[in-house]
Amino acid sequence: MIVAGNWKMHKNKEELSAFFNQAKNFAIPNGVRCIVAPSPTLLIKAVEAAKGSAFEVFSQNCHWENSGAFTGEISPLQIVDAGATGTLIGHSERRQYFGETDESCLKRTSAARKAGLEVIYCVGEQLSDREAGNTEKVLESQLKAVVSEFGSDDKIVLAYEPVWAIGTGVSATTEQVRDTHNWIRSYLKSQNCSWKILYGGSVKPNNFKDLASLDEVYGGLVGGASLEVESFQELLQCLTEK
Ligand code: PGA
Repeated sequence: MIVAGNWKMHKNKEELSAFFNQAKNFAIPNGVRCIVAPSPTLLIKAVEAAKGSAFEVFSQNCHWENSGAFTGEISPLQIVDAGATGTLIGHSERRQYFGETDESCLKRTSAARKAGLEVIYCVGEQLSDREAGNTEKVLESQLKAVVSEFGSDDKIVLAYEPVWAIGTGVSATTEQVRDTHNWIRSYLKSQNCSWKILYGGSVKPNNFKDLASLDEVYGGLVGGASLEVESFQELLQCLTEK
């Protein structure tokens, strides 16, 4: 099981230190991995602060070249150099606001894996897709190429994040999560792929226990509720019984 905190464009050095001073002492349930993905400016400090704790540090994004004229990007080798061990790829905010496509996500995944970084690969439908009954079609189109190329790579974890549930406070219902995760599982199986699937989108301490109890949910990719040390700890506690 995994709890991965996507800190997005939040926190400064002081806030990061305050988080880890407390988080170092977390009681982490057996078999649960804790990940945080801070901003690039905080990666090195986060790696230092996480030393000696169970926390792993991931980047929020990763370019497909190791170096070059790509203003504002971060390369796989820079992520490795910072001491982080993985990266998110294809988060819906990257797709929505920064023109990320399935094609660029595939290139980023390829470069990240070549550099030895683990990948949390994000997919999810828009509300209009769900309302039009197109959820599965959209997910299949997002998954197709990356699964065909990296389906046998067990250092990739999938995060299913319905776009309409991200940052809205309205999580998908347990039924929606169960049905969609089951559909993704059978699709992955048909492609000989056995990636674990996380759920993301308004995961909170008060809904995570139910969501995480579902068979095909291996944890959460969490934005807002991962920022405060108390709610991060409560999320971990939700996994004690799984
Ligand atoms: P949220 O964000 O938990 O704040 O909805 C999730 C995400 O963007 O990964």
